[in-house]
Amino acid sequence: MSRFGSIAAQIKPIIFVVGICFLLLLILLWWSESRPRPWTQAEKSILKTLNIANLPVLKPDPSNAVADNLHAAKFGQSLFFDTRLSGNGKVACATCHQPQRRFSDGLSKAVALGQSQRNTPSIVGSAYSPWLYWDGRKDSQWSQALSPLEDPAEQGSNRMYLARLISNDSFYAKTYVELFGELPDFNDTSRFPENAGPMSYPLWNQAWLNMTAADQYLLSQVFANLGKVLAAYERKLMPGPARFDEYVNAVLHEDDTVPAKELFNSQEIEGLRLFIGEAGCLQCHNGPLLSNNEFHNTGLLPFPGEVPDQGRSKGVEILKNDPFNCLGPFSDEMSHQCQEFTYMRTGSVVLGSMRTPSLRNLGGTAPYMHKGQLSTLAQVMEHYNAAPLALIGHNEAKPLGLSKKQLGQLELFLNTLDAPLSTADEWLLKPDSSTLGNVTE
Ligand code: HEC
Ligand code: HEC
Repeated sequence: MSRFGSIAAQIKPIIFVVGICFLLLLILLWWSESRPRPWTQAEKSILKTLNIANLPVLKPDPSNAVADNLHAAKFGQSLFFDTRLSGNGKVACATCHQPQRRFSDGLSKAVALGQSQRNTPSIVGSAYSPWLYWDGRKDSQWSQALSPLEDPAEQGSNRMYLARLISNDSFYAKTYVELFGELPDFNDTSRFPENAGPMSYPLWNQAWLNMTAADQYLLSQVFANLGKVLAAYERKLMPGPARFDEYVNAVLHEDDTVPAKELFNSQEIEGLRLFIGEAGCLQCHNGPLLSNNEFHNTGLLPFPGEVPDQGRSKGVEILKNDPFNCLGPFSDEMSHQCQEFTYMRTGSVVLGSMRTPSLRNLGGTAPYMHKGQLSTLAQVMEHYNAAPLALIGHNEAKPLGLSKKQLGQLELFLNTLDAPLSTADEWLLKPDSSTLGNVTE
């Protein structure tokens, strides 16, 4: 054997041992990486605040006397799915708020009779928000529901036509009278034209202006009541427990039947850790619905050629002048109860800010953000990581400097928040055939 050969024979076992050690080290590293460190007490308290089990009981809505009336909810459900409520007879609320998409539509910006300016949000859980719409230009669900009915880009109808539709439908008319008392008699065509409303086409607008103030008021009252029954239905749409909540329950009560480690994998745990820690998401996405219901500018750009969206700054002005706001004559609330208005006087507003959306309906709200600017959650994560400069106002979120792997973990965690509706009541998810289309004319 050559000299060289004998040296090789001597170091072979050494190489073997070093190799084994190296392998063991790799296994150890992999093992420690794949075993996330346990949650601290402080982290556990945070997790508890996000658990859906901590969603408080929905407060009564004093501005809507029928908000919690079951007959009103069933009436509202029928209206929600009824395409007759639109100018062309083809568009219902459910055209854009589709039950199978968590009551959203999957489009960047909604399309019906025309093109909406913004993305359709899910309405699940929206009863908890003191503000509605991305810019919070409505302060109640019932008042919000009135806008799409007359918006030429959405349902494009008018309050005169709608009031007539209600009085000519036996189920609607009967339920209306039970809830709100007699409907005006619309047969007098000298007082009540075929179509009239203040928000729509010039011809209908003119017909509205020709009516007496008293008759305008009567119609607006009927119109507001339609909003109130729609809201009674919408108040029942609540997010159900997600895998995330099961995980939190298991972490908090370790004696649970399903151990926590079977509910979340290590990547999801790291994603959650980033969410409540380093990534700073909790600053705005907090509480059981993962929203602080406040308005923030997070540097989303408009699509090319679009005017930047002023968001809340403009929303506040619209709300103050809205006859259907909490202080207006159609609200059942006493003006001193209008807490939102007190808030509006004190809260400061960043130009271009939008309401923080809940993160519980992400399975239906893609494309994301107020104009549907971002198609995937991966893009949303990259957006937050870069935190670009805002076109108007300033981006309140700071660049994160996270790795691709960490962004992936955040995304995996977000997916664990999505869940079907909390209700076992199937009736909420589809039109009720027994109440639709009872026209007696
Ligand atoms: C053409 C599609 C379309 C139709 C029809 C439509 N919506 Fe919407 N909805 C939207 C869009 C888009 C927004 C967000 C607009 C904005 O913020 O400016 C929205 C917002 C909402 C919100 C606010 C949710 C939140 O969290 O802020 C509620 C509630 C709602 N709609 C209920 C209804 C009801 C009730 C009807 C029927 C009377 C209806 N919508 C009809 C597209 C539609
Ligand atoms: C400064 C407050 C703030 C912070 C911090 C923040 N968000 Fe947001 N988030 C918002 C607002 C406001 C929107 C809506 C923005 C818009 O459309 O203009 C939003 C939208 C989203 C959406 C889209 C939801 C939808 O249905 O369209 C997701 C997902 C999201 N945020 C996740 C996160 C994650 C994950 C983090 C942490 C990395 C985070 N956010 C940090 C306020 C914030």
